[in-house]
Amino acid sequence: MRNVSLEKLYNHPIVQKYVRRSGMAHAIAVAEKAFEIAVQNKVDPDLAAKAGFLHDIGHYTWYRSNGEWDYQEYKQNDIHAIKGAARAHKLLVRCGEDLQNAKEIALAILLHTDSYLPDGQLKLSPLQYVVAKADQADELPGGKHHYRKIDGGTALARIQTLDQRINHYKLSNQIEKTVS
Ligand SMILES: [Fe+2]
Repeated sequence: MRNVSLEKLYNHPIVQKYVRRSGMAHAIAVAEKAFEIAVQNKVDPDLAAKAGFLHDIGHYTWYRSNGEWDYQEYKQNDIHAIKGAARAHKLLVRCGEDLQNAKEIALAILLHTDSYLPDGQLKLSPLQYVVAKADQADELPGGKHHYRKIDGGTALARIQTLDQRINHYKLSNQIEKTVS
């Protein structure tokens, strides 16, 4: 039913390299939050959780001094959402994700923040709204959400639990559809 699980993404070296860079604890928390908001809003929770998990995969190691982010420089030069959308898309397609899904997830990553865009109103799709909301819900002042720690065992267990919740949701939704 799902070509690609969160666990498959989690175990991929590209995810371990780039998602760790901006914070695995934040990525998992946003994936969980995106799942919950998606279910409430009748948005596909599989796409929302994947976009939530991968939303910061485009972060750079630039803009850092003494290991800390330089937020002023970052704000001026950052394109992590653009980089992340492309990186996540490539990863998803390589892992076997459906192309339409890969595009939807990449677009949600592209638009999860408007901090890099010129002023103006973005009109977000329901999926894009869910991912942006989930990210905001886990943000801490001063970008501290990027530094929260999580050990490998806990991270994997939470990813597996979230996969189960998504599978369960998809299955019961399918049963509902066939019954009605
Ligand atoms: Fe984020």
